[in-house]
Amino acid sequence: MRTEPLLAVRDLDVVFDTARGRVPAVRGVSFDLAPGEVLGLVGESGSGKSTVLSAVMRLLPGVAVAGARRLEFQGTDLMALNAAGLRGVRGTGIGLIPQRPMTSLSQVTPLRKQLRWFLGDMPQSEVEDLLGQVGLRAVAERLDGYPFEFSGGQLQRLLIMLSALARRPSLLLADEPTTTLDATVQAQVLRLILDLRERLGLGVVFVSHDLGVIAQVCDRVGVMYAGRLVETAPIGELFDHPRHPYTRALLRALPSRYRRGERIAVIGGTAAGANRLPGCPFAPRCPRAEARCREQEPEARQTGGAVVRCHFPEDAAGARNTTEAAA
Ligand SMILES: Nc1ncnc2c1ncn2[C@@H]1O[C@H](COP(=O)(O)OP(=O)(O)O)[C@@H](O)[C@H]1O
Ligand SMILES: [Mg+2]
Repeated sequence: MRTEPLLAVRDLDVVFDTARGRVPAVRGVSFDLAPGEVLGLVGESGSGKSTVLSAVMRLLPGVAVAGARRLEFQGTDLMALNAAGLRGVRGTGIGLIPQRPMTSLSQVTPLRKQLRWFLGDMPQSEVEDLLGQVGLRAVAERLDGYPFEFSGGQLQRLLIMLSALARRPSLLLADEPTTTLDATVQAQVLRLILDLRERLGLGVVFVSHDLGVIAQVCDRVGVMYAGRLVETAPIGELFDHPRHPYTRALLRALPSRYRRGERIAVIGGTAAGANRLPGCPFAPRCPRAEARCREQEPEARQTGGAVVRCHFPEDAAGARNTTEAAA
């Protein structure tokens, strides 16, 4: 029996209409998220990850034009919601953990007052219980302080508490939630997110430019390049049988603790302008590209357990051959 997806995205397109021209930031992105599943979105800066999350939250700026064949949360068409419907879904249905905790809080208002904006007149004992659940019980006495008096890790835990615990959403969108934190605190925050998934059965879309972080928390991963989802696969399959040349380049660029005896490689070239190319956006940097790749954009195709946009997706043996050829 198939379970109804928590989130269904089909052919999502987002174009930013700017003074310097139209930027196709997200192009034909499709994925499903099952209840309780953690899906990672990985890709370099500018590949469209945050724009996907903003489109789901219907928080795109006015210069953006978004369209999708389907954008549904628990069977509700998000594109069709009016302002009141959106307010209902945001917070209580879908929670968002922002990238920079500092910029999401007012710097001139004591935390206690800001908590009240989110939590209403929740009794102090319940507030303390929530704080305890994110490892912040000790902070309960310091709530009259301002955000700058707390560490980045503490503020991120607080925002996770507000977005994931206080209103009990069933979907959590996390936009590089640990990027600004140092390694130890990053590991604690990742564990906290996994713990919440475990206890509350939350579905999570976890965005990061770091495949190493994605590998620690995600069941499945979507690799984005120039606005396209170029490969989506279960995390184990992605590491064992990467099929898109860009996925393989990302894996080679990982520190060795995630790989087995390969050198660190840097991906040459840049993705700038790739979203306007007629063929495959990765063709200019791809070691395998042929004339067809520069002329015709590949469709998304099911290959093994993965969905791949490549004219020449590799099976496991082929991947090894190409890696050797490129080395
Ligand atoms: N408000 C905006 N106005 C114009 N272009 C934007 C805006 N936000 C994002 N973009 C462009 O959309 C593309 C995708 O950006 P983004 O979703 O932020 O990528 P990522 O989160 O993967 O770094 C980039 O080319 C970026 O410059
Ligand atoms: Mg981003």
